[in-house]
Formats: sequence, structure tokens, C-alpha cells
Amino acid sequence: MELIFATYNAHKLNEIRNALEPRYTVQGLGDLNEKEIPETGSTLEENSFIKAEYIFKKYQKACFADDTGLEVSVLDNEPGVFSARYAGTGNSIDNVDLLLANLIDKKDRKAQFKTIMTYFDENGKHFVFEGIVHGKITSEKQGIEGFGYDPIFQPNGFKETFAQMPLSQKNEISHRGIALKKLLAYLKLT
Ligand code: IMP
Repeated sequence: MELIFATYNAHKLNEIRNALEPRYTVQGLGDLNEKEIPETGSTLEENSFIKAEYIFKKYQKACFADDTGLEVSVLDNEPGVFSARYAGTGNSIDNVDLLLANLIDKKDRKAQFKTIMTYFDENGKHFVFEGIVHGKITSEKQGIEGFGYDPIFQPNGFKETFAQMPLSQKNEISHRGIALKKLLAYLKLT
């Protein structure tokens, strides 16, 4: 079965393909020659819906989108929905450096990644799945795997950051992996 994942992010697409293939053939926005869909919502829910609805309306095929935020307790859950634009440059390294700087004197480093995944079935009915992973922000970057905030996010119960884990292990426990498992359970594939 074919599924469209409304993302332009090669890392996210790789994660999802790793989890779904060969049962599903997953196409990303790049495969469809689509441009990035603007995230004009003010919540993860709205942005995830906007991206999935745009693709469903255009292709009338089963599709899904995610929007993810990193919520840091001591920073009133920032950067949250602004995670991609935190430093204002659109550059992940700048985002990570700013977050480390904002936490430099903070003892409480609790954080969570939250993913909201919106799935449209081929009839245009939509369903929402949430995935949360709790952890903490490390004091320095560790690891080279993954993307975004992975080098500074250490999930509870692990000594490694996401960037020090093989992709299959991150997929097992991550926010996006959890939301995806719920989607798969809905599709009765687990
Ligand atoms: P978005 O869902 O693409 O809008 O992602 C928001 C921000 O969170 C971007 O800066 C991403 O790099 C970051 N992000 C999303 N998912 C992950 C992840 O699994 N690990 C680390 N950073 C992530």
C-alpha cells in the first residue's frame, strides 16, 4: 500500500521508511516535487492538520503529516511549536546552541518531545495520534546520529542522547515512533 508522508525533512522520511517498509511504500514531498508546506498554525495540532489536509485535497490519497515540538519545563515549555524557528535562522545548530545557552545555569533540565501526527484515509476521514517521550537536555552535544535537537536530548532511562543511538532504537522509544505505532495499530498492522 502507498502512503504519502507530508514532509520535506529527509531525516523524518528516513525514520518513517525504516519503520514502515516493506509493508508500505512511503513517498515524501520531494518525491512528489512538492515544496515545503508553510506551517501557519499556532499549535502542533494545527500545523500537522494543515500539512496532511493540503496533501489529501491535492492527491485524494491516504497520507499523514507530523508536527513536533521540544518542550522544556523550566522555559515554560519553549521552544514548543517554535522549535524549528527558535534561533530565528532556520538552522538546527543555532537552535541547539541557543537552547544550551538559555539553560546554562539551570539545574532543572526536564524536557519532552511531543509529536502530533494527523492521518487522512483515502476517504478523507482524519485521525490524530500523539507521541511523547520524556527526558532531559544534556549540558553539551553528544553523538552524530539523527537530526535537530537529538544531540542534546537524553530520554529517561538511557545514558545516551538520541544522537548516540542507532535509528532503530530511537524509533522504538521516540515521540514520532510512539505516534507512528498508534497509527499502525489503527491500520491494524501491528
Ligand atoms: P517540525 O516538526 O519539522 O516542525 O520540527 C520542529 C523542530 O523540531 C525542528 O527544528 C526539528 O529539527 C526538530 N525535531 C523534530 N523532530 C525531531 C527529532 O526527532 N529529534 C530532534 N529534533 C527534532
